[in-house]
Formats: sequence, structure tokens, C-alpha cells
Amino acid sequence: MEPIVEIKSISKSYGDFIAIDNATLNIEKGTIFGLLGPNGAGKSTLIKVLSCQSRPSSGHAFICGLDVVSDKKEVLSIIGIVPQENSFYDDLTVNENLEYFGSLYGVPITDIKKRSHRILDMLQLSQKSNSRAGTLSGGMKTRLNIACALIHKPEVLILDEPSVGLDPVSRKALWDTIKAVNIEGTTILITTHYMEEADLLCDRILIMNRGKIVIEGTSGELKSKVGERIIRITSMSGDYHAVKSNIESLGAVISCDIDEKGIKITLREELPFEQILEIFASKDEKIKNIESTRPSLEDVFIHAAGEAWH
Ligand SMILES: Nc1ncnc2c1ncn2[C@@H]1O[C@H](COP(=O)(O)OP(=O)(O)OP(=O)(O)O)[C@@H](O)[C@H]1O
Ligand SMILES: [Mg+2]
Repeated sequence: MEPIVEIKSISKSYGDFIAIDNATLNIEKGTIFGLLGPNGAGKSTLIKVLSCQSRPSSGHAFICGLDVVSDKKEVLSIIGIVPQENSFYDDLTVNENLEYFGSLYGVPITDIKKRSHRILDMLQLSQKSNSRAGTLSGGMKTRLNIACALIHKPEVLILDEPSVGLDPVSRKALWDTIKAVNIEGTTILITTHYMEEADLLCDRILIMNRGKIVIEGTSGELKSKVGERIIRITSMSGDYHAVKSNIESLGAVISCDIDEKGIKITLREELPFEQILEIFASKDEKIKNIESTRPSLEDVFIHAAGEAWH
């Protein structure tokens, strides 16, 4: 496999504050790569470094072998950036916006016209090609924002939280759009706070926390790192402190947390329920409900945000 994005020991500081702390990562060509992490983790900072908007304090990053600092102009010509705020002009029509962005990148007008047609078709915006951008719905504006980033045929499309504020139908349409762009051969780097989105869309997922890379892999790999199974129990008394330490001492138990929904036990492998039930019985705690599930990406995220893997 061929890395299209190479991040080598990148750090970024603002004064004494370290926003990215020695990150190293490869993204393979053709993947949809998800960048996850709590607020302030350093996702947008990393995206700014990769898209030449911010210089790293140390380390190097390459896109298609081009250095994001010393080959800035070339890098900008092969990446498309979809910032969180819309970058198009409300007063121009959809077509005029694409012409404007195409000419910014030096795309010949005949190519702009051909590509606009294809892009608008793919993003299902053809019917709005002569409408003023300001009159589009929120979901359509998001798609136009993406269209403007695609007009110069980038190798890598970078999207920073593109689905914020979209309703579930528009979000689904956005996923279809991103998949369609990816199928055409574009590598995708996307940040999101929606776990479902990352799970459904991304081939690989990276979780950052406080500037550091915590974990990277496929969604399945990340989930299996948390554990094999999660058991939630609620008791009649709602007091779990008496049983917690006994449960934690069971061999297969990875973690045992009390939260607003009861006690949550993460297991390495299938553990007979009886062993857990016996602990509740021995403490005279009556069980109200038991639920057994596989770990979700949200469990992985919470685990990573809690720095349990540091
Ligand atoms: N120009 C700047 N000057 C000083 N600190 C900055 C600057 N830009 C970012 N930071 C800090 O770097 C840290 C990482 O910010 P960043 O925007 O990368 O987080 P993020 O992971 O994108 O978070 P969110 O999910 O909230 O978008 C934050 O603590 C932020 O305050
Ligand atoms: Mg951000």
C-alpha cells in the first residue's frame, strides 16, 4: 500500500501550549480516514498543518511526497479543503462559485465547465446550478462547499466537521456524497464528533486526545481493544459501590464503571453471568435489569478521552 499522506513527528506549539505532540501517521491512498477526539484534541490544528494554513513547530508532513511547508503551492493544488464555515459567495450562483474557485486554482474555463457538470451531478445539485448560493438549503450549502473544494480535482479532500448542523437525511446524503467522491479515487480525511458517521463512513479511524495520537485502526480493531463485551446492570437500590471491587477482581473484567445508567462492566471475553449475579446476591443487591452488548465506537472514544491508554 502506498501512503498518500505522511505525517512524521509533527508537533505544533502556541507559546508554552502543545496543541500537537509528536504525531506520526500514514494515510493510504484511497481511504476514508476519520480523525476523532474531544474538543481541543488538536484535530483542526493537524488539518491546518496538512493544508498549509499553519506551519508545524517541528517535524514534517508530506502529501503525495510534497512537503506541506516547502512545497506549499504544489500541495495546495492537489488538496481540497472543506472548512467548517462555507467558503463560497452567497451572491454568486452555484455555477459562478465553481467558476470562481476553478479559476483560483488555474483550471481552464472549458475544464471548469466540464467538471462542474460532473460534480453537480454527483452531488445532486444540478437543478440548482443557476440559483444564488445564498438561497440554498443548509444541506445543499454543505454540498456546494464540497463542490468548490473538488473543482481542481484534488488527490486528497479534507473536511473539518462537515456534518455539523445537518438533519439526519442531509447527513446521510453527505455520506453518500463523500463515498461517491472516494469511489472516484479521492482520498478523504474527515473530522467528526458523530460516532455513527465515523463508524459507517471511515475505513480507518484515529483518536487524538490532548495533542497525542491515542489509537488508530479500523472501527472493528478499535472496538476489540476496548473489550469483547459490555454488560450493564441496574439494581433496585441503585448503589453499586458494594459490588464494584468484587466485580473488578474477576479475571476477565477490564473495567467497571458506575454511571447514570447503572454499572457498566467491560469484559475481555465471555464471562458466565452467574459469577456476576453471585456477587450481587452476596451483597443482597437485587437486580432490576441486565443488558449485554458489544463495545461501540462511543465506548472506544470515551475510553480514549479518559486517557486510559496513555
Ligand atoms: N491560534 C491558536 N493560538 C493558541 N492556541 C490555539 C490556536 N489554535 C488552536 N489552539 C489550541 O490548540 C488546542 C487544539 O485546538 P484544535 O482547534 O486543534 O482542537 P480540535 O480537536 O479541532 O477541537 P474541536 O473538536 O473543538 O474542534 C486547543 O486547546 C486550542 O485552544
Ligand atoms: Mg476543530
